[in-house]
Amino acid sequence: MDPSVGPPDSPVVDNGVVDNGVVDIGVVDIGVVDIGVVDIALEVNGRARSDSVEPRLLLVQYLRDVLGLTGTKIGCDTSSCGACTVLVDGESVKSCTMLAVQADGSRVLTIEGLAASAAPSTDDAGGFHPVQEAFRNNHALQCGFCTAGMVMATVSLLEENPDPDESTVRHGLEGNLCRCTGYQNIVAAALAAASSSGASSSGGLPGEALS
Ligand code: FES
Ligand code: FES
Repeated sequence: MDPSVGPPDSPVVDNGVVDNGVVDIGVVDIGVVDIGVVDIALEVNGRARSDSVEPRLLLVQYLRDVLGLTGTKIGCDTSSCGACTVLVDGESVKSCTMLAVQADGSRVLTIEGLAASAAPSTDDAGGFHPVQEAFRNNHALQCGFCTAGMVMATVSLLEENPDPDESTVRHGLEGNLCRCTGYQNIVAAALAAASSSGASSSGGLPGEALS
């Protein structure tokens, strides 16, 4: 039997080499793609920062890997969990959805800078922001992985609405996922923070872009 002729569905055999339809185009030298770097200047937790970053660098990677601010977590990297939430010019942002270059000229607040942005504490909480105090007092965390993002989202929520009802809190935090708590104590913490003078008087949140 002619070896180059097989059943209809069999690969053609030519001189012992099975042809599966793959075209050999040889070795192609695509070279090294230089994507370059971009200079950015921004304020992070009240401190001016200037860096040269790749255009593809995510803000969360910049915060964690360049600045060492690892309080901001990466839970999903797909904008689903909210663990990476920070404030950019006072607005809550999932920092895995934003490029570092997009934050150029902005003021960024992370969990590490939150306490310093708050008014002086009136109790023995060690200078925590009122929302942090409320999370602690209401046992609103277990493993803590979601907590930084949850706290930052709560701060943003209460800045927009200092006196929310439970429904508003649940709606406002629905972009932040927690695998541990069942949310009940997180909602309680947010409501407690709202009713404590707290978040609405925190004052020092960076809310304006540098100009
Ligand atoms: S890591 Fe950004 S939303 Fe999950
Ligand atoms: S406390 Fe564990 S994920 Fe929220």
